[in-house]
Amino acid sequence: MATVTFISFDGEKHEVPFVEGQNLMQVAIDNGVSGIDGDCGGDAACGTCHVTVDQQWIAATGSRTPAEEQMLEMNPDCQETSRLSCQIALGAEHDGLIVNLPEFQF
Ligand code: FES
Repeated sequence: MATVTFISFDGEKHEVPFVEGQNLMQVAIDNGVSGIDGDCGGDAACGTCHVTVDQQWIAATGSRTPAEEQMLEMNPDCQETSRLSCQIALGAEHDGLIVNLPEFQF
């Protein structure tokens, strides 16, 4: 079973399963991972699904969409590795993906 690991701000790890085709935000919500709100339902319109991608997974998760870029520009916690998790569609190549959760969602 393919899994992704969310690491909370305080270092707690949540390894959860995913099905190919799901987006990362939905996987967090479906598995009760706290720290992801996903208020807009995945339209890149709220910014409350912010994560930072582990360095070794940057290439595999691709680049930001223009809408995602706009949302992240408004986030005071935005980092070079920041993504909106709703914009990361998961495939088999993402088995083992590691992302970090911010302390707060804005
Ligand atoms: S769920 Fe709203 S931007 Fe990702």
